Amino acid sequence: MAKTICRVAGFVVVVLSACTRDDVSRYHLIPFPEYISSRAGTFVLSAATAIALSDPADGELQSLGAFGADVLAGTLGSAPDIAAEPFSGQSNTIGLVLVTDPRAASGERYQLRVTEETITISASEPSGLFYGLQTLRQLVPHHIAPSPDGDGETVWPIPAVEIDDGPRFTYRGMHLDVGRHLFPVDFIKKYIDLLAMYKMNTFHWHLTEDQGWRIEIQKYPRLAEVGAFRRETILEKNFNPFIGDGIPYGGFYTQDEVREIVAYARARYVTVIPEIEMPGHSLGALAAYPEFACTEGPFNVATRWGVHPDIYCPTEETFAFLEDVLTEVMDLFPSRYIHIGGDEAPKTRWEASPVAQTVIRREGLADEHELQSYFIRRIERFLLSHDRRLIGWDEILEGGLAPEATVMSWRGMSGGIAAAKQGHDVIMTPTSHMYFDYYQGDPEHEPLAIGGYTPLDKVYGFEPVPEELTDEEATHILGTQANLWTEYIKTTGYLEYMAYPRALALAEVAWTDRRWRDWESFTTRLQTHYRRLSDLAVNYRIPHVEGLDADVMTLADRVVVPLRASMAGAEIRYTTDGSDPTSTSPLYQGPLDLPVDEAGVTVTARAFGADGRSSAAAAAHFHQTVLRPPVALDAPDLERGARFAYYEDQFSTVDGLSGATPAREGVVSGIELSGFEREEFIGLSFAGHLRVPASDIYTFYLTSDDGSRLTIGDTVVIDHDGSHGATERTGAVALEAGYHPINIRFFHGRGPGALHLTVRRDGDARPASIKAWLFHERLQSR
Ligand code: ACM
Repeated sequence: MAKTICRVAGFVVVVLSACTRDDVSRYHLIPFPEYISSRAGTFVLSAATAIALSDPADGELQSLGAFGADVLAGTLGSAPDIAAEPFSGQSNTIGLVLVTDPRAASGERYQLRVTEETITISASEPSGLFYGLQTLRQLVPHHIAPSPDGDGETVWPIPAVEIDDGPRFTYRGMHLDVGRHLFPVDFIKKYIDLLAMYKMNTFHWHLTEDQGWRIEIQKYPRLAEVGAFRRETILEKNFNPFIGDGIPYGGFYTQDEVREIVAYARARYVTVIPEIEMPGHSLGALAAYPEFACTEGPFNVATRWGVHPDIYCPTEETFAFLEDVLTEVMDLFPSRYIHIGGDEAPKTRWEASPVAQTVIRREGLADEHELQSYFIRRIERFLLSHDRRLIGWDEILEGGLAPEATVMSWRGMSGGIAAAKQGHDVIMTPTSHMYFDYYQGDPEHEPLAIGGYTPLDKVYGFEPVPEELTDEEATHILGTQANLWTEYIKTTGYLEYMAYPRALALAEVAWTDRRWRDWESFTTRLQTHYRRLSDLAVNYRIPHVEGLDADVMTLADRVVVPLRASMAGAEIRYTTDGSDPTSTSPLYQGPLDLPVDEAGVTVTARAFGADGRSSAAAAAHFHQTVLRPPVALDAPDLERGARFAYYEDQFSTVDGLSGATPAREGVVSGIELSGFEREEFIGLSFAGHLRVPASDIYTFYLTSDDGSRLTIGDTVVIDHDGSHGATERTGAVALEAGYHPINIRFFHGRGPGALHLTVRRDGDARPASIKAWLFHERLQSR
């Protein structure tokens, strides 16, 4: 029979009949499968549908059957029967078939075949059947239909389809920090359920921190009694001066609870990897057992976030303690991998410690970095002797990698690249894409978060295999993981808000063949998943209303404001008086047509989902403006480029530049952060004239890390001051054709900085560099 290949939204779908738009839209699968082919006909799922197993006596198949029945009961209202007879293609049956033919499916692969008569899921491993069941769960239509028999029963039509699917990566994970804030056992189970639903297979459980030790260790009861409780917690970001909330906080998971969670995860083919941090982030433990530090103590469980100098001292007593702890941990967690942290361990205590210095001399180590390497290698030897493998954050590269360590690359991709080139396995979790504690919208309208900006499309665009690697080296990239650090995440609701829907983008990055990744298709399929997540009472982030991304000025006396909710079915409610919209505010029914004067009007909008929840607010101010006159300048006195002053100092605001003395001054061709002596702890100011080609409104786009401020004439067009990550701010100004003074001030603290300025004339599609418009006055002396 001739097959027609349809390409819809970047996906190849093989169908037997002519293609229709319906072919792909019927399969709202996340993550998208490797191969999917629609067939003629429909399977009618109903309360009469049964589940049958290829071997009814097989215990694991029985568990899978029960799991499938449980999942379908949520839809059908009652659990389907599990047939006593082996599956042999009986009609109106869902067959779970373990096959021995390794060509059919291996590892986590599965095949799913829906015909008018039966649904067959086959795989060579139970995990494959489990993923087939998860796919089936997504094929069940969200909306019920009346039975075609007219008997008043409800049925769920499932279009016939053939799916042959398997993961791109073997490691597909989500992390959860319970050190900063902890979450109830039932919530952890829900977190694991959702991972499994989206075919992720690893839960990285970050169990020990400066702010709290969260796992019962029987040999060291004070870890839970003392190390799990802090006096109070920093209030928002009040580091300096420190302001605490005055409320004692703490708790831990008992070994019984840990076992319960591990078993729950195991039944969902999720491996729980415990993380026991060392040598840093260990104040919780040191508060309980100060004898394992290099100084006397006493120590308190930390009440503020950050990196603390008191870490484990590399004594024989410390190693004995850690081995005892790891022995109990290995007993609780069957995972092949144990994560030992290894990140952010300041070396100041080791530098000053006679004990640490003795170990450095005894072992012939060059410095404290090699001492950390020695520390990690010793722990690795212990884990290997128990047939376990060590994972550490990318700092474990410093001073030399432990021989068989797997590296979790978080400070970008470079640690992962270096490790893969040395033949080590790697999990990519860079802050740039995989830190789900980062903002996903404008911080002004979002709940307090740690910083950064990682919206959904950025997560979706992540590519875990760097181009720098050869094919052979790339085999060491086991997969990817998102991290959820919980300094600012105190509640389960906010945790889900930060995790979803970004975790769905992660799931597709981790599972789906790179060729099938397509943002437009993903956002289309996502619509169904918003509804499914609502059904599961997941507090996912409803996308904010689009169309209010920047304040708008106009030379006219009216503005037309189109708004858009990217979640289908969401209602937009808005206000024009600056107040926060509620579910009874005016309903948006089409572009707003508003009169504006110089005072202007603020439009604020929220999207409301069918579950009654709303998005974060979005707001923009619309006002009428007048053209700023240019300054009179003689073109012959002008040269291209701008003057700059470069400062080497630590600033926390661009205002700090005012009294400072520049290290160097000169002329540059563009506003860029290149060509200067250093990137960290600097300030820069640029001054010149902007040659504006025509009288119009111009919007400027300024990205900086850290603070920046753009002034044109005497108008501050963009104020993006303060310490922050690389984020963009926009501002507009109406300019008459001619020359306008321009000034940009910028500072940067630690790490890689950013400074980028573009401009867009009203009506232009895209912003462009301002380089061609940039002039400065020739020095008089020349
Ligand atoms: C980390 O974020 N400190 C691994």
